[in-house]
Formats: sequence, C-alpha cells, structure tokens
Amino acid sequence: GEITVLRKFEHIEHCLKRNVQAHVSNGFEDVHLIHMSLPEIDKEEIDLSVEFLGRKFDYPIMITGMTGGTRKGEIAWKINRTLAQAAQELNIPFGVGSQRAMIEKPETWESYYVRDVAPDVFLVGNLGAPQFGKNAMRRYGVEEVLYAIEKIEADAIAIHMNPLQESVQPEGDTTFAGVLEALAEIKSSIDYPVIAKETGAGVSREVAVKLEAIGIDAVDISGLGGTSWSGVEYYRAKDNVGRRLALRFWDWGIKTAISLAEVRYWTSLPIIASGGMRDGITMAKALAMGATLVGIALPVLRPAAKGDVEGVKRVILGYVEELKNAMFLVGAKNIHELKKVPLVITGFVREWLEQRINLNGFLGSRF
Ligand code: FNR
Repeated sequence: GEITVLRKFEHIEHCLKRNVQAHVSNGFEDVHLIHMSLPEIDKEEIDLSVEFLGRKFDYPIMITGMTGGTRKGEIAWKINRTLAQAAQELNIPFGVGSQRAMIEKPETWESYYVRDVAPDVFLVGNLGAPQFGKNAMRRYGVEEVLYAIEKIEADAIAIHMNPLQESVQPEGDTTFAGVLEALAEIKSSIDYPVIAKETGAGVSREVAVKLEAIGIDAVDISGLGGTSWSGVEYYRAKDNVGRRLALRFWDWGIKTAISLAEVRYWTSLPIIASGGMRDGITMAKALAMGATLVGIALPVLRPAAKGDVEGVKRVILGYVEELKNAMFLVGAKNIHELKKVPLVITGFVREWLEQRINLNGFLGSRF
C-alpha cells in the first residue's frame, strides 16, 4: 500500500519536471487532410458535439486518467478536482487515475471523489489489468470494480493495460495471464460501461478484436508518440540495469495513428484516440480517421497541479479553436461530416498499414 502511494507521487513529479515524452512521433505527420478552397460552409455554423457511451458532449476531447491516492488537500486530490471542474464546465468526459491506492488504502478515496465540484461530469474510474490476472497477489474481481465505480459515483470504468510500464519497473506487476477472461466476467456481471485503455504503447488489431468479442464498450488506444511510461520508469530506475532496460523500451509500441487505423478497420468499437495529441489539426485527423473522441493527459497536468481550472480550460479551448479551423478548411460542419472527408496516408504509416489493413478499403469508409 505504502509503495503504491509513493510510486504515484514519483510519477507525477517526473512528469512535471522532466521530459517523459517519446522520442518518436505519434504518426499523424503521415496523415493528411485535404484543403478545400470552397468549403461551402460558414465557419460559425460548425458543431463540435459528439455522442459517446450514450452521453452527448460539447467537444470530442476527453481528459484521461492520471492520478489519485493521496489524502484530501494533497496533490492528487487537487489535480483530480481541478481537471474535473474544467471538464464539468466544458462538458467533456474526465477520468481519474488508477484506483488501486483507494482499494489498498481506503482513506485515500476522497482524492478520487469529484462530485462536489463536478456533479454532472461523465466520470470514468480506473483500475489496472494486472490486478485481474489469475496470479495477481490479490486478484480483483467484480466486487472491486463495483467499489471503484460506486464509491466515487463514476459513470464507467477504464481498465488500463500497461504491460510495458510494468515490465520495465523493478516492482512491476506482470501478472497478465487470465486478464481477458476476467474482463469478460466483469463485462457480463455489471451494467456500467467498461473501457479498455492502453497507457502509451497502442492497441493492436489482435487485441482490439478480442476486446470486442467479450463485449468491451470502448477502447482508449493510447498509442506511442506522447507520454512514455518506459521514459517515466527510466527516471525512477534504481540502478544501471533498470535504467538500461527502460531506455531500451522508451519508444516501444504502436504509434497512435497506426493503432487507430488498425482498431477502426478491424472492429466497430468506439475509439478514444490518445497518445501525443498536442494540437487541434492532429485531433481533426484522428477524428477523420474514425475516432469518437481524442484523449489528452500530460498537456493538462501542469495547470491541474497548480489548481488552475482556467488554465486547463485554456489548453483545451486552444485545441478546440484549431480543430474548428481545420474542419472549416476541409468543409466539415460537424464531426460526422469530418469522418467522410478524403484523407491521404503517406510514408511509414502507409507502409505499416499496407501490411495490416486494406488501406484503400479503410480510406473509402472509416465510420
Ligand atoms: C497517466 N496515464 C494513466 N493511465 C491510466 O489508465 N491510469 C493511470 O493511473 C495513469 N496515470 C498517469 C499519470 C500521468 C502523470 C500521466 C501523464 C499519464 C496515461 C494517460 O491516461 C494516457 O493514456 C497517456 O499519458 C497518453 O496520453 P498523453 O499523456 O500523451 O496525452
């Protein structure tokens, strides 16, 4: 328990103070929107609203899970309420970080509780896949999932898949055998939506197909090209062997643009496209490729750590302005129309996708 809480502090510290991003891009430089000299719409009429898991949101952007596990008044508590309040005011979904700390140390539950400042926000809880492995030290099941959701009055739960991070950290939980079966059991036992979520290494078509088969409601692909959890663990490593391993795997994974195309082509799961989403043009590309929402984490950490609700909103509204401008220039007056605009895919992403999907089929129909 003590270790989990300490670990969370260290992660936030490193993410605030060091460069923990991948050294490679998330692939969207190979995806091209096509400029339309006659958009045939008025910029003012553009509507950015979307539906996701039965709720309507003002913008297609989600703040994905980062933290929790401190006492009331401390850093994780502050970050979560700041993000939740911004998400409430913007009417966008928000996720808390791993609730494992709250299961191990119930007295930290209030650092995840945001309903007093965000009564209506679409709130996503968060637990880690390895805790559902059949060899987990304490195996979680339906009971822990329901506790995580109901104690904080969440609307859905995300189960994070983080084998990369766990594999490069000394105290990592690498008990992934039996996770899929456990998720199937949870899915068939609870009424809340279940989101399967990566943490920066991307979801492959193989995994996405399995998740769809057990009835998972949505996937957050969290691809390579943004925050690198191997990067974070590099700074936490206690010796050279650990540092070497983490450095070697710093840029491991499937780029966000590639993961998005694979999952969109092979499943009809709603997709949250995250991992290095840092501007509204890139977000327009992801939505055009078939994502329902884009997700961000690191870009809002800094203002959130200062308790700056307006600062969090400013970051997101900056993306919104750019997204809207890109939509104007391709002549899409809503997100549905954006999914039908022509796209060109070049370079590395094209080479990869030619071996993994029918690229022309994908470009022809992406929704
Ligand atoms: C994360 N992320 C994360 N994900 C998760 O499912 N549970 C968690 O507890 C955390 N914790 C966490 C802490 C911090 C400080 C960061 C920056 C990130 C992963 C996050 O939700 C997201 O998937 C990735 O960070 C990719 O998005 P960005 O950061 O590139 O926008």
